[in-house]
Amino acid sequence: MLRVVVCVSGGGTNLQALIDSIDAGSVTNAEIAGVISNNPGAYALERAKKHGIAGVCVSPKSYDNREQFYEALLDTVEGFAPDLIVLAGFLVTIPKQMIAGYKNRIINIHPSLIPSFCGVGYYGLKVHEKALERGVKITGATVHFVDEGTDTGPILLQKAVEVLPEDDAKTLQRRVMEQAEWLILPKAVHAIANGLVDVTDGRVLVRE
Ligand code: GRF
Repeated sequence: MLRVVVCVSGGGTNLQALIDSIDAGSVTNAEIAGVISNNPGAYALERAKKHGIAGVCVSPKSYDNREQFYEALLDTVEGFAPDLIVLAGFLVTIPKQMIAGYKNRIINIHPSLIPSFCGVGYYGLKVHEKALERGVKITGATVHFVDEGTDTGPILLQKAVEVLPEDDAKTLQRRVMEQAEWLILPKAVHAIANGLVDVTDGRVLVRE
């Protein structure tokens, strides 16, 4: 059974999609060992609680400096002994030590088709605002492994979503979640949990 830790900062709809997919049996061989939030008010922590999943807040505000915060974050992650770390709307830069210690064992969901609309400063609604500004007709979401760059790691899964003429950033964000994120994140976890993923030279093969 793959032990998964989910790191969150906000609403936790991707966490919910994962919980629901495990309950429904569309994700197999995986269990959520814990949820970690940097934000004490994150609704994602409520979602964890409602499902009897351990939820922990590690807030940078509780520490004197970044190093101490990172140490606490790493300790908390390690406490859950995860096989896989899922960043589901986690707005914290991951410490280098964690990236090195969990090579190809950390995945992130990003709300665009990487390499479009990604990198430093592209998070949350901003991603969708930029897509609308540029006038793209297709956007989507990407699940990728996390490396030392921002949104630069090997791509596992992508799904395209149509942009409609009447969209604003919020309607587009919602459609990208419904039609892409909530599907490909659980699918990626299922694939990893069932040994269906191979990474060679930075390219990922996901078998059905
Ligand atoms: C999602 O759009 C995800 O792609 C991005 O942050 C958002 C998190 O939403 N990285 P939620 O907390 O899962 O509802």
